[in-house]
Order: sequence, then C-alpha cells, then structure tokens
Amino acid sequence: MEETNHIYPIFDRMLGRSDKETLLGQRGLMVWFTGLSGSGKSTIAIALERELHRRGLLCRILDGDNIRGGINNNLGFSPEDRVENIRRIAEVGKLFVDTGIITLAAFISPSDESRRMAASIIGKDDFLEIYVSTPLEECERRDVKGLYAKARKGEIRNFTGISAPFEVPACPDLALDTSRLSVERSVALLLDLIIPKVTIKK
Ligand code: ADX
Repeated sequence: MEETNHIYPIFDRMLGRSDKETLLGQRGLMVWFTGLSGSGKSTIAIALERELHRRGLLCRILDGDNIRGGINNNLGFSPEDRVENIRRIAEVGKLFVDTGIITLAAFISPSDESRRMAASIIGKDDFLEIYVSTPLEECERRDVKGLYAKARKGEIRNFTGISAPFEVPACPDLALDTSRLSVERSVALLLDLIIPKVTIKK
C-alpha cells in the first residue's frame, strides 16, 4: 500500500457522534439564543445549564466572555465582523454538538442571514432558535453594562437596537420576553422543548 493511503483509514477509525452520544446517554443539540444586548440571553442560558446539569445532562455555554474574549478577539461589530463572529461560533458549536453535548450559544446574532448560516452549519435538526424578545426599552432601562447610555451619547457606534439593526426572527422555536417571564418560567419552557430532543429512547 502506498504511504498516502494511510491518511483515510485513520480518519475512518475515528469514533462517531453516536459513539459519543451512547457514552454520554444523551443527544447533542444546539440551543441558539438571539436577542438584544441585556435581553437576558446569558442569564437564561446559565440557569438552563444548571437545570440540565442537575438532570445529569452535559452542557457547554458559548457566550461573549469565552468567545469574543478568545477565538474572536480580532472581531468588532461591523456587519461583516458580526457574520464572521457567528460563523466561527457555529463551527465551534458544531464540534460540541457532534460530541453529544447540549450547546447553549448566547449571542445577539442580529441578522436573519447570520442565524440561517448558523442553522445550516450545525444542521437544522440539531438547531433550536430561541428569541429572547425582551423589548428594547427594558434592555435599555436595565443597561447592565452601561453600553446603551454610551450608545445614546454616540460614544459607541453601530450599537444594536440604537444605531445598528436587529432583525426579529420570523419563526423562532420559542420566544421569551424576560420583562414578563421569570427566569424560572423561561427555563421550564425550555426544558419542555429540549428534554425530548436530547433523550435517547431505550
Ligand atoms: S453579535 O452581534 O456579533 O452577535 P455578540 O453577541 O457577539 O454580538 O456581542 C454583543 C455584546 O458585545 C453586547 O452584549 C455588548 O456587551 C458588547 N458590544 C460592544 N459593542 C457593541 C455594539 N456596537 N453592538 C452590540 N453589542 C456591542
């Protein structure tokens, strides 16, 4: 056999997704949160992770802290950079999903185009779109990071909801307005959606 023929048999022997899912006793899934800054995406993802973990299910949160601070620290907030931000997150997320892990991504992902791209990279069957629909007025009232005030003063340009667009998802799998729903209620609604999808039928 020629030397080059060895490359593919090695790849063939790599364990597949179902091997990992069987090991973990769960199915991989991407739960993609979209919504304005301050809408509650990360708060819900963190509470959801705790509940899933408590049920013996392995999760991974991807958010601005671990992605924009690391792999995407060369990207800003131009439309092109936001698309590239989402593309890389989707590619990284796919690796987690293919490892059988319930992956929770919390990013504004303001354009339809970027969310469609994420769904197509990960695969529609493995992708849930969760729109955290908290109104702008409420996000701005909270202004957890003080960024809305800066955006209003023109100190931050292209700020989503103020000086950059947010395209409302047309048919999300679930919409959660945290000005009306408690975190506990949001998590309960999410569990109803997620548990059947990640359970391996015996
Ligand atoms: S996305 O648009 O590319 O999906 P992402 O979720 O990664 O955005 O980052 C959003 C976070 O970056 C916000 O919650 C906020 O803390 C910070 N941020 C800094 N500049 C901006 C901006 N111009 N628009 C929106 N968010 C910004």
